[in-house]
Amino acid sequence: MFNLVKGTHDVILNEADKYSFVENMFIDIARRYNYKEFRTPIIEYSELFSRSVGDSSDIVRKEMYTFLDKGNRSITLRPELTAGIIRSMVTNKLFVNQDYPIKAFYVGPCFRYERPQTGRYRQFNQFGVECVGVSTPLRDAEVILLGYKALKKLNFENLTLKINTLGDEETRTNYKNALKEYFKPYLETMCDDCKSRFELNVLRILDCKVPSDQEIVKNAPKITDYLSETAKTNFKEILRILEKNNVKYELDYNLVRGLDYYSGVVFEFHYKGESNKDFGALGGGGHYNNLVKEVGGPEVEGIGFSFGIERVVSILNELDAFEDSQIELHAYIMPIGEENQEYALNLAEELRDNGFEIDVSLENKGMSQMFKKATRRKALYAIIFGENEIQNNEFGLKNLLTEEQITIKKEELIDVLTKLLGGGCSCDHDHDHEEGHECCCKRSD
Ligand code: HAM
Repeated sequence: MFNLVKGTHDVILNEADKYSFVENMFIDIARRYNYKEFRTPIIEYSELFSRSVGDSSDIVRKEMYTFLDKGNRSITLRPELTAGIIRSMVTNKLFVNQDYPIKAFYVGPCFRYERPQTGRYRQFNQFGVECVGVSTPLRDAEVILLGYKALKKLNFENLTLKINTLGDEETRTNYKNALKEYFKPYLETMCDDCKSRFELNVLRILDCKVPSDQEIVKNAPKITDYLSETAKTNFKEILRILEKNNVKYELDYNLVRGLDYYSGVVFEFHYKGESNKDFGALGGGGHYNNLVKEVGGPEVEGIGFSFGIERVVSILNELDAFEDSQIELHAYIMPIGEENQEYALNLAEELRDNGFEIDVSLENKGMSQMFKKATRRKALYAIIFGENEIQNNEFGLKNLLTEEQITIKKEELIDVLTKLLGGGCSCDHDHDHEEGHECCCKRSD
């Protein structure tokens, strides 16, 4: 027996269906906004992340899975996807004709060596979008709206959008100086992490979770007092558009995010359920000014966010939001007698070719065992036959929910199943099923 690697988890059976459902929903929304899929490697050169996510971030300092490959190159399992996505835009010369914005969506696994706890894994999945090459409050607002609507589509009710701005370069320099002045006298009493944050990136102290440090943070200077006029106007504009679109947000001036590449607006989606279990943020993101340049591209800006699929699915599970489907298979084929199994296999192939989800018994089981299997597999119909039925070119078709059984001719099977299953067309040309017009699936009703 081998154990799972600490902090990892299997996603199997029904749980995997839930992951696909959530991912497909996100993908569907991203496509409506004309985002295109990007699939980038899981391994990248380590320097990509130290340059982008940043040497002062916890992710780069403590959480990366980094190793030397056989050619002595430092390689890292991606802790997030944004850096690799932007790198791929540069590598594939997508900036050359300046057809902006470049819009990417992505889904895939990330790796962070964190302390495993509720909602926190060492391998987890993200869905995200990056909109690159433009910089207007309208685009920023549009990306936030995409994220908000995607979660709403999944019926999240108690959703909070926390939002802040980190302003521009000038804002941050002035603000960091003010924070250093403020924290200096308290530093001796603060946690070790805060002591190193003070040196590496003082903004990170605002994010400290130690209660005594949070008390000190409460009275720290607020970024709003240091924002340049442009940063202030941009932020106000984004908030105005969100309000106009009925997005409820909460200003959180201590929201700095855990990655170094942000400037301008930053945001996180949080959910507070009745159980008060804290799953952490469902997703987060923000605007970036220098990231593209930092990884070798032109001086253009971008904005993006990522959702954590594990957290989204866990909360939907808590809310009992996934329907427990009664039917998972259209039909289970039950041949009576070993000699009829090959016939059953061929019939299964024919039905699958016509778009039905079919399983078949090829194990020489008795009737009652086959029925039990059909029920366990949540089949709607059982298709039953022995030698006689094959000779007569007919089958028994039993609805396993109502227990009703009929006898039908082989040539009617596809049509009958199609009708019984709701009239859908196996060729997807439902609109062609008009009187007198024969569809390519040969149905003309
Ligand atoms: P992040 O906030 O580090 O941002 O991660 C985004 C989301 O990934 C989190 O809100 C959370 O749902 C999920 N997540 C993070 N760590 C874990 C973990 N250990 N276990 C389970 N889920 C986790 C980013 O990664 C940025 N790349 C977002 C972004 C895109 N910013 C701009 N564009």
